Amino acid sequence: MQMKKVWSVYFSPCGSVKQIACYIAGRAAEKLGLETATLDYTLPAARERSYSFGEGDIVVWGSPVYAGRLPNKLLPFVQNNFKGNGALAVPVAVFGNRSFDDALAELRNELENNGFRAVAGAGIAARHVFSEKLAAGRPDEADMVKIEEFSAKIADKIKKGEGLGGGLYVRGANPPKEYYTPRGLDGRPAVFLKAKPATDKDKCVRCGLCAASCPMGSISGDDPSEVGGVCIKCHACIHKCPRKAKHFDDEAFLSHKAMLELSFQRRAEPEFFI
Ligand SMILES: Cc1cc2nc3c(=O)[nH]c(=O)nc-3n(C[C@H](O)[C@H](O)[C@H](O)COP(=O)(O)O)c2cc1C
Ligand code: SF4
Ligand code: SF4
Repeated sequence: MQMKKVWSVYFSPCGSVKQIACYIAGRAAEKLGLETATLDYTLPAARERSYSFGEGDIVVWGSPVYAGRLPNKLLPFVQNNFKGNGALAVPVAVFGNRSFDDALAELRNELENNGFRAVAGAGIAARHVFSEKLAAGRPDEADMVKIEEFSAKIADKIKKGEGLGGGLYVRGANPPKEYYTPRGLDGRPAVFLKAKPATDKDKCVRCGLCAASCPMGSISGDDPSEVGGVCIKCHACIHKCPRKAKHFDDEAFLSHKAMLELSFQRRAEPEFFI
């Protein structure tokens, strides 16, 4: 089969998944002499339609790890709005230095269920969006060397045309286990499902960037301090605000963040499967 295009497909509220998926797709495309294309399903407008791929497509699919799994609010879209039609897939789970747990296996399974053939995969550590103290500056130079090697191996495997039937082995329970339970400093479950970011009205200049970047479309354009809909704690509004006017003040959330900062300082290495 003649390959035509290398895609990066991703959900990336704060940008690390986008950076990594686009890099892998770009380098593999260069080595294969193919063109690239992107499909960013971070914002609600991109999720109003369905997408079809074909046998000439190679799809590097990036997702952040949320609670050890794929972000659950996005799962129905991933399950129902894509047709692989035999396209090759490279699932990439990007995690914030704790663990990717079963998210990579879950992504591999969902892509295969949609008719993609998973031929390579990776779990890659990046800055944790909750804290500047967790995996700051990742992926760093050492990570990029490994990511580069991985991209080259993908191209080689596709050039050789062997082992492209799908069913790739990746680390993680299959079927995936329960979502990870966030805990606070006291070791007890930290319940912050309903938490929403607070807005410092003295700092806010009503530029609208937070509302435009919310993957759930939950922030009011008229009053950016109003979060009317679901909040998935993705931190896009906090990271994009030029005035640093948004933050989480929920005690359970802050206790979980402090626990992560205490317990997950060690360097989590990226893992590659090919
Ligand atoms: C709600 C939520 C849950 C998360 N759960 C985990 C986790 O279980 N393990 C982990 O290592 N990182 C976890 N992270 C960190 C993200 O996976 C990581 O920061 C990722 O790079 C975010 O991608 P983005 O920058 O493209 O938005 C979580 C982040 C959020 C927002
Ligand atoms: S991005 Fe910041 S400054 Fe702009 S509207 Fe939102 S909270 Fe206000
Ligand atoms: S309101 Fe919640 S879901 Fe929306 S951008 Fe902010 S953290 Fe993400």
